[in-house]
Amino acid sequence: MGILGATKGTVLEPQIEQLLNLEKDGSAAYLALAYVARQQGHAKLAEELEHIGADEARHAGLYAIMNGKVTEDLRPVLANIAKQELKAEIALAPIVDKCRELELYEVADEIEKAAKEEMRHGAIIHGLIEKYL
Ligand SMILES: [Fe+2]
Ligand SMILES: [Fe+2]
Repeated sequence: MGILGATKGTVLEPQIEQLLNLEKDGSAAYLALAYVARQQGHAKLAEELEHIGADEARHAGLYAIMNGKVTEDLRPVLANIAKQELKAEIALAPIVDKCRELELYEVADEIEKAAKEEMRHGAIIHGLIEKYL
């Protein structure tokens, strides 16, 4: 694979790392803005911002590849990720509880929803490993 780990251990590694972090932050910012836009009733604007956010996430992925953050050995890496995803409900429960204690009910609900999605990701990844790897 041409770009996998290509910049790791070179003088470019810190700059690529910086770009990776900028893209991650950009992705989060666009998706956060999309959330706000949707709340304000701008569904189409929200959708466009989500697409841009997805592009930035893809760019982050490219920089992650260049700096060798993943290996070509998909099965064990994905199996480990699935394991982490499946810990989400337990891992996030104390934060959800703390939110409710602080009467941040909507925040608690959103984190709980995200945790359920993480669990779903874990199950999906397990299925994908069995189907394709
Ligand atoms: Fe980008
Ligand atoms: Fe996830």
